[in-house]
Amino acid sequence: MNALDKLSSYIEALRPILYIPTFDFHSFDNIIKELSSKSKIYEFNEGLGYVSFKTKNQETAYSLEEFLNLFLSEQAEPVFLVLKDIHNLIDNHKIISLLKSIALKTIYEDDYQVTIFIVSTKLNIPTELEKLITIYDTPLPDRAKIIDTINDFSQSMDITIDTHLINELALSLKGFSEFEIIQILNLAYQKSGTVEKKDTQLILQEKEQIIKKSGMIEILNFKESIDDIGGLDNLKEWLDKKSKIFNNLERAIEFGVETPNGMLIVGMPGCGKSLTAKATARLFTVPLLRLDIGKLLGKYVGESEENMRRAIGMAEAVSPCVLWIDEIEKAFAGATASGGNEVTTRLFGYFLTWMQEKTSSVFVVATSNDISNLPAEFLRKGRFDEIFFVDLPNDEERKNIIELHLKKRKKWNKNIDTIKLLKETMGYSGADIEAVIKDVIEKAFINEWKEIRTENILDELADTKPMSVSLKEKIESLKSTLDKLDVKNASKE
Ligand SMILES: Nc1ncnc2c1ncn2[C@@H]1O[C@H](COP(=O)(O)OP(=O)(O)OP(=O)(O)O)[C@@H](O)[C@H]1O
Ligand SMILES: [Mg+2]
Repeated sequence: MNALDKLSSYIEALRPILYIPTFDFHSFDNIIKELSSKSKIYEFNEGLGYVSFKTKNQETAYSLEEFLNLFLSEQAEPVFLVLKDIHNLIDNHKIISLLKSIALKTIYEDDYQVTIFIVSTKLNIPTELEKLITIYDTPLPDRAKIIDTINDFSQSMDITIDTHLINELALSLKGFSEFEIIQILNLAYQKSGTVEKKDTQLILQEKEQIIKKSGMIEILNFKESIDDIGGLDNLKEWLDKKSKIFNNLERAIEFGVETPNGMLIVGMPGCGKSLTAKATARLFTVPLLRLDIGKLLGKYVGESEENMRRAIGMAEAVSPCVLWIDEIEKAFAGATASGGNEVTTRLFGYFLTWMQEKTSSVFVVATSNDISNLPAEFLRKGRFDEIFFVDLPNDEERKNIIELHLKKRKKWNKNIDTIKLLKETMGYSGADIEAVIKDVIEKAFINEWKEIRTENILDELADTKPMSVSLKEKIESLKSTLDKLDVKNASKE
């Protein structure tokens, strides 16, 4: 149901007071205009009192009380009262009582229909009016609407934007209100006298602003790419395919391809899960957002869910993006359909439904090193496109990782015999290997070695213990949980 249909169904159902929390008064005026075929519109605002809805010029400097009093008597035709930014005036008992009288007359008297629209940047609902007020959240413009707005803009500025770019812009402008869209287009226009491809960058910056203001989600800056991952070839191949979709989302959707949902990566500590989350965002060329579910938990009833709703809304506003939920087991462990911790269970339910029904291009990367306590519903197909298991790196992978970390620090030379290092690095994670390489390089600097030799690395290995030794039990229990599930090995065997 679109915005107009929904509102007009409220009006027909005689909902007497509609509260519209919005900043974008201009867009809402257009909606009211379309709704008002049979009704007369009267507008009041905090600054000027009674104003003409059409011109916004002052008619009479009434107070809100005086203004409302005008409509208590019988009305010959249906009336819309548009009250703007009255959130500071509404706590007054006289105002409350006037609003209540008008609302009740609308509900109970046949020849009287006055619908009140409270349009305001702030939501303030006095308890006395709670039952009479319906909150209406203006939906963000959809693709078609955004395209209309861009076209209107290019016409009014007398510039041409080619169709392909319009489609691209429409995708990245999703999540903004019409007001914000016009502001961004204006900003782009001011900079270069036109709207061009590189303005998608500008849009991205604006999106970052939205997120920063919220505090629950973090936008990560990072350098890692898929080439920084040693091994995990199955996972990399899969991601590469998905990136073809994500990087051509516009065309893919038109073609009938489903938007990718996300993946769950489970596995050993230090084996590249976080690394993969970052590389995914880079590969998809979209921002990486990290959601800390711990930060969503609030003190008051309903607060956590509300935070979750907002955080997800935020991610959708920034979409296309990668939403990374690290250590997901900490957030949802113990949540079940039938009980467990009440807040966690509700959050979990909300998240699952969202995952299943979402149509937005938010690609979820959930990472975890213990899924034994995660609810079974979570692991079922349909939520994530794929569940990957990341094991300790095999021979081939350790070889890759050793070379990768040496090359990254410009210390690779072909005399280093990585094959000789394989036996000694058995049971080492990628993070363990990286630590060894770092230590060797530090020694090379201190001792002024000309180059690093195989023996130097072997010596270092003899002095270290991989993490898997200290985590042995944990790793074994993880493996036995995974054996029972339908998960894909991230590595090629
Ligand atoms: N497969 C790999 N290839 C190259 N480097 C790796 C690999 N795995 C781990 N590393 C190195 O180890 C570091 C830590 O890895 P990462 O943070 O991805 O581990 P993780 O699986 O998320 O572990 P945790 O479960 O502790 O969060 C990486 O920044 C990277 O330098
Ligand atoms: Mg990690």
